[in-house]
Amino acid sequence: MTRFRLLCHILFFIIATTTTENVGLQTQQGIIYGRQTQNSIEYLGIQYAKVIRWKPPIDLASEIFPNGSFQATSFGPCCPQPSSDAYIPKQDEQCLYLNIFKPIVQSNHSLLPVFVWIHGGGHALGCSSQSIPLRYNGTNMIAYSPPDQPAIIITINYRLGVLADMYLKELIEEDSEWPAAGNYMKLDMLSALRWIKKNIQDYGGDSNNVALFGESAGGLSVINLGAVKGSANLYRTAISESGLGSPGTYSSYNNMSNALNYSNSVVQRLNCSSDVKENVLSCIRNSSIEDLFKAYGNRATKPIIDNYFFPLYPPLAIKNGTYNKDLSLIMGNNDYEDPICFQQPDMNFNDAVSLLTQSIGYKWIPMIVNHYHINNCSSDPNANITRCCNIVRLILMDKTFDCNVRRLYNGLYLKYGPEYENNKLFWYHLNCHPECPVVPDKGVCEHASEIAYVFGTISSWDSVGPVNCTWDNQSRIFSNEIIAHWINIATTGRPLSQWPDYDPSTSKYFYITPDQDFSPMTWNRNCSVFDQIEEEGVKETFGNNSYSIKGTVV
Ligand SMILES: *[C@@H]1O[C@H](CO)[C@@H](O)[C@H](O)[C@H]1NC(C)=O
Ligand SMILES: *[C@@H]1O[C@H](CO)[C@@H](O)[C@H](O)[C@H]1NC(C)=O
Ligand SMILES: *[C@@H]1O[C@H](CO)[C@@H](O)[C@H](O)[C@H]1NC(C)=O
Ligand SMILES: *[C@@H]1O[C@H](CO)[C@@H](O)[C@H](O)[C@H]1NC(C)=O
Ligand SMILES: *[C@@H]1O[C@H](CO)[C@@H](O)[C@H](O)[C@H]1NC(C)=O
Ligand SMILES: *[C@@H]1O[C@H](CO)[C@@H](O)[C@H](O)[C@H]1NC(C)=O
Ligand SMILES: *[C@@H]1O[C@H](CO)[C@@H](O)[C@H](O)[C@H]1NC(C)=O
Ligand SMILES: *[C@@H]1O[C@H](CO)[C@@H](O)[C@H](O)[C@H]1NC(C)=O
Ligand SMILES: *[C@@H]1O[C@H](CO)[C@@H](O)[C@H](O)[C@H]1NC(C)=O
Ligand SMILES: *[C@@H]1O[C@H](CO)[C@@H](O)[C@H](O)[C@H]1NC(C)=O
Ligand SMILES: *[C@@H]1O[C@H](CO)[C@@H](O)[C@H](O)[C@H]1NC(C)=O
Ligand SMILES: *[C@@H]1O[C@H](CO)[C@@H](O)[C@H](O)[C@H]1NC(C)=O
Repeated sequence: MTRFRLLCHILFFIIATTTTENVGLQTQQGIIYGRQTQNSIEYLGIQYAKVIRWKPPIDLASEIFPNGSFQATSFGPCCPQPSSDAYIPKQDEQCLYLNIFKPIVQSNHSLLPVFVWIHGGGHALGCSSQSIPLRYNGTNMIAYSPPDQPAIIITINYRLGVLADMYLKELIEEDSEWPAAGNYMKLDMLSALRWIKKNIQDYGGDSNNVALFGESAGGLSVINLGAVKGSANLYRTAISESGLGSPGTYSSYNNMSNALNYSNSVVQRLNCSSDVKENVLSCIRNSSIEDLFKAYGNRATKPIIDNYFFPLYPPLAIKNGTYNKDLSLIMGNNDYEDPICFQQPDMNFNDAVSLLTQSIGYKWIPMIVNHYHINNCSSDPNANITRCCNIVRLILMDKTFDCNVRRLYNGLYLKYGPEYENNKLFWYHLNCHPECPVVPDKGVCEHASEIAYVFGTISSWDSVGPVNCTWDNQSRIFSNEIIAHWINIATTGRPLSQWPDYDPSTSKYFYITPDQDFSPMTWNRNCSVFDQIEEEGVKETFGNNSYSIKGTVV
């Protein structure tokens, strides 16, 4: 062979190995083969833990791949869930998989920050691989990131619904090493984070610079993890997008008696009641998934404050100094989470009261009507700020998001002082005008609408095929700007500099909107009603009479 031919041969070999679908990477677990795209290598379907029904996950972080190597080129199954609008590919009870999207960087690049996504779906639905086109596609986020700031994006699955949520005396007594039950979704998330801590360096990631981001139930989860046992040192930043039910309100959690009572009713509905504890457990573990879903019903899967793994409701953990105080937190929500004026444009006073009664409870209605001046609200769509639907929208935003963010942040301030909290707490509101046909209410920035912009991917919860729609340049630029803030948060623990940190005395949020440059805005609403509701609710649910974190401290 001539030198020239040899050179060509080598060159061809190099090109072939860098453009082929299969790029082998030597890791502690064996050689892994990924899926190469223009901007990334995707390692899909890595199993991080094994499931035994209603037991903590069994970590696989230190296991060798079964055959010494692994083809990480397709997603693992999703966790079992009842059918819904969402497009969910294959399901299996063994569902604890994660996916790594690694940017193509110079081989001498230093270790990259790691950004871990926790999907939403009420802890009952959803999957890291849901929707076509893929909704949580880290490659697009990588492609539209600032070029000098590469980050690794990871998405994970975790157990859902009844399989995440049985709290039974029999389970608590089953294993003396784990005298707890329930909260399996949180245990799975921690297991994934332990896998990342142990292995991500092999993929070029910095195991000491892990940030979490999540939406809805995922947004609740990223805040909760700061209050559970065993989460210290696994991550240092959390972005909570529209955390629901909100991390700052008691009603997003169950206490032990609520959890026991409901789980026992599930056992009864499965016809598994017995005085012999082994019989109960083998009966429920032998029940089919379909029977389990039926017996569990349409219940919201809430975290359980259990005196052991999740010992304190997060605001109380903050107060007691047991919340992870080293974290940076970024919290916020969308402008029309609940697009009430689009659904009920002619809402009148009576409609308003009945909707508020449903969502807040009869007991508080007189106080709310009075405080928010609903009596005079107008059903005329031109009335603007005095429209009934608009007043109700703002009340529900206070209740579900803003007043809770304020309460949590002010609680941290009260505990650790402003100096400590500088550069650690950030608040946003997001507006967007989703245009594409996959979006249900065109142009309305409702719950979950921001996800497309955060991931740089036009995809919907339930899209099942290609989306024949592209963003105009303005939407792409808007998305890129959001990605730039999010990636900066993953890299440095804080957003770009024009986004100021939270200050309780001025209460400014950062307004992320396509209409203008992003800028801080003053938040001028009053939380006194919801602070009072919260205080009573916490006393009733968690029995702590000394609880009094008001929204107006500092
Ligand atoms: C391991 O190898 C066996 C036999 O070749 C094959 O059937 C199996 O699918 C492989 N397992 C994995 C996880 O690749
Ligand atoms: C990394 O490698 C590239 C290309 O070889 C080189 O230009 C760059 O200076 C290197 N960077 C460092 C930090 O060594
Ligand atoms: C993610 O998006 C990129 C770019 O559009 C595409 O090449 C890749 O196949 C997508 N990944 C998956 C797993 O769908
Ligand atoms: C216990 O559960 C039953 C059945 O779900 C329900 O009717 C009852 O109100 C619950 N009791 C308490 C105290 O939660
Ligand atoms: C439990 O027993 C009742 C009454 O015998 C029966 O109707 C029901 O189908 C059983 N449920 C399950 C999950 O087996
Ligand atoms: C299912 O039931 C059988 C017999 O009742 C029992 O031996 C077995 O352990 C049960 N399986 C599980 C997973 O509990
Ligand atoms: C509060 O924190 C202390 C340690 O700082 C701990 O001993 C105590 O158990 C905590 N209180 C509760 C109710 O968990
Ligand atoms: C309601 O409207 C009437 C007449 O427009 C006005 O006099 C009254 O002050 C208003 N009440 C409240 C609570 O805004
Ligand atoms: C409501 O807003 C529209 C459009 O901005 C404006 O034309 C109208 O005058 C406003 N109505 C009232 C009652 O302020
Ligand atoms: C998009 O176009 C493809 C190919 O023309 C078609 O199969 C698909 O149904 C279209 N999708 C939608 C949502 O219209
Ligand atoms: C949109 O951006 C592309 C690429 O940057 C550019 O070529 C095109 O002219 C832009 N279109 C408009 C309408 O600005
Ligand atoms: C649990 O919460 C319920 C309200 O949801 C309350 O009635 C009950 O007293 C609480 N149980 C305990 C032990 O605090």
